[in-house]
Amino acid sequence: VKWSPRRLLYLILWGSTLLAFLSRLHFLPGWFRFAMYASAMISNCPGVMILGKLFSYHFTRTMLGELSAACLTTLLVEPVLRWIERPLRHLPPQEAAPQVTRRALLLGAGASTGLAGLGAYSFAIERKRFEVTSQALYLPNLHPKLDGLRVVVMADLHCGPVNRPGDLRPALQLAAQCKPDLVLLPGDFVHLSGDYFAEAAELLSLLKPGISNGILMSWGNHDYWNEIERAYQTLSPLPLHLLRQQRLILSPGRDFEESGPGLALVGLDDLWEGKPDLAQALRGLPAQQPRLVLCHNPDCAERLSGGRVDLMLSGHTHGGQIRLPGMGTPVLPSRYGQKYASGLVAGPNYPVYVTRGLGVGGIPVRFGVRPEVTFIELRSSQKGWHWQPLERVT
Ligand SMILES: [Fe+2]
Repeated sequence: VKWSPRRLLYLILWGSTLLAFLSRLHFLPGWFRFAMYASAMISNCPGVMILGKLFSYHFTRTMLGELSAACLTTLLVEPVLRWIERPLRHLPPQEAAPQVTRRALLLGAGASTGLAGLGAYSFAIERKRFEVTSQALYLPNLHPKLDGLRVVVMADLHCGPVNRPGDLRPALQLAAQCKPDLVLLPGDFVHLSGDYFAEAAELLSLLKPGISNGILMSWGNHDYWNEIERAYQTLSPLPLHLLRQQRLILSPGRDFEESGPGLALVGLDDLWEGKPDLAQALRGLPAQQPRLVLCHNPDCAERLSGGRVDLMLSGHTHGGQIRLPGMGTPVLPSRYGQKYASGLVAGPNYPVYVTRGLGVGGIPVRFGVRPEVTFIELRSSQKGWHWQPLERVT
């Protein structure tokens, strides 16, 4: 067989697509399955980006989506290959062929070296450069005894073959340095296998919030995809509250109650895999009672109404993981473009804070989107709802 850039490229493109199909075989080791679908996402990335924008990121993770992405990528790379392989008119045919090969080799070598360097940085360095963002949230009607409440939000641990406990532990140490009273965790604790709930539990046991049992969590799509019933077995013994369409009230005495005055903490179900219902979760709360809502997928802000929300806390998009100059985030698992990439967003009915998360999913890199531990200090306000960035608290 005579090798050429064309043959090599198509072997990688279609070979990785085939392997991505096989990554659904659950008996294979987790790291191997992750490598298989991540390689397909990288080699088919032009098709994945376009289909993600046209339909949804969720579609690109289906078999039909993977097949469509490979076909679309083939259509896009074919003209480039033809340009590289075009004969040079000013040379006789017998001399043109070696020239073409040399040009293709130089182009390929330059591009591969650059990509390999960027990939190594994005995988080994930026993925682990955790950052604390700090802000104050001024809430009307917050009880004076809850003024100054320190809250840490962390989403998307994605414990799994890539996000190892040793990678994530520095984020939990940063969270501890924030001296939180409460820790809120809006979903996606594992990646690829329910086995990793044990690692998530081990990491969460390191959290010691000031309020006893002060860890509250809700579920994400990856928790559903990976044996969520095992999550209940593994995480329930820990001193935390699992909120699926449930709420608790943090009383002025800083205890958790079923009802009464204080701060309402509400956990909604996941949008893709569960049945989130905001109106049901808020029903019966006094109209002026301050409330924070944990909801993994920020698209919920566009879809769910039926009650006042002071702030929805979400993750899911990971900030897009990759942010390119002038292009933004090429792939974002949201139906609303770049709107819910990260940070404070004004939803149609209430504000949402989208944290960039700790781990990675899809492809195992971050570039221009550092992982985030979110710190929020709650303050009572006479002047209405107000949000203010703070200097670093750690
Ligand atoms: Fe996630």
